[in-house]
Amino acid sequence: MQHNDGTGRLSSRPPAADDPFGRFERLYVEAERGEAEVPWDRDAPHSLLAEWTARARPDGSGRTALVVGCGFGRDAEHLATLGFATVAFDISPTAVRGARRRHAGSPVRYETADLLDPPADWLDGFDLVLESMNVQALPAELRARAIPAVGRLVAPGGTLLVIAAGRRDGEQVDGPPWPLTRAEVDAFAAPGALTPAQVEEIVVPDGGLRWRAEFRRAG
Ligand SMILES: C[S@@+](CC[C@H](N)C(=O)[O-])C[C@H]1O[C@@H](n2cnc3c(N)ncnc32)[C@H](O)[C@@H]1O
Repeated sequence: MQHNDGTGRLSSRPPAADDPFGRFERLYVEAERGEAEVPWDRDAPHSLLAEWTARARPDGSGRTALVVGCGFGRDAEHLATLGFATVAFDISPTAVRGARRRHAGSPVRYETADLLDPPADWLDGFDLVLESMNVQALPAELRARAIPAVGRLVAPGGTLLVIAAGRRDGEQVDGPPWPLTRAEVDAFAAPGALTPAQVEEIVVPDGGLRWRAEFRRAG
């Protein structure tokens, strides 16, 4: 029997309930050996991020950015070109090594870290935090912890940008991945901390949904 491992590929191995993140590291290891492809491995930044930066024109000089679940660093490198002092992290050490190799000489600091247990000095730490396509790959019980964990990384006066696949209310999905509902996107807002600035629901050519949502933290 084949199982969708939540990364867009089929695996003969079912996801282990006690190791929810292990499938990512396994995929990156297999890809390094040439036995698999990482479906989100692209040279260009995510188009919804590139559009947002072209529109918002954020000036990163003297400001910091953090990229959650950075994979091979396509989005982190983009933010660095805008002047942000950028840190990018992933739970997969193989992905992080791959990002460092791929972008040798890059100013981006690539780190292995777990969103659910980040270094203490990252809390309230970054002027711009990017969460793109990661939370949707986590099962509901982890997602409920991951959403507030993302918000805790935003500095006072900072911005959180969330990019995600979306699903309509009542639409059933047999994840992983589990595209986010509007309520899950709204949950990134944290009372007294993050407030929504703009939530865009984007219909892509195949009729699917994407979210691009921007939240701000008061200074
Ligand atoms: C679907 S991929 C998206 C990668 C990247 N954000 C992109 O859009 O190209 C999800 C990424 O999140 C990472 N990840 C999963 N759980 C994580 C966690 N708890 N902390 C940090 N990274 C995590 C995975 O290793 C993987 O690289």
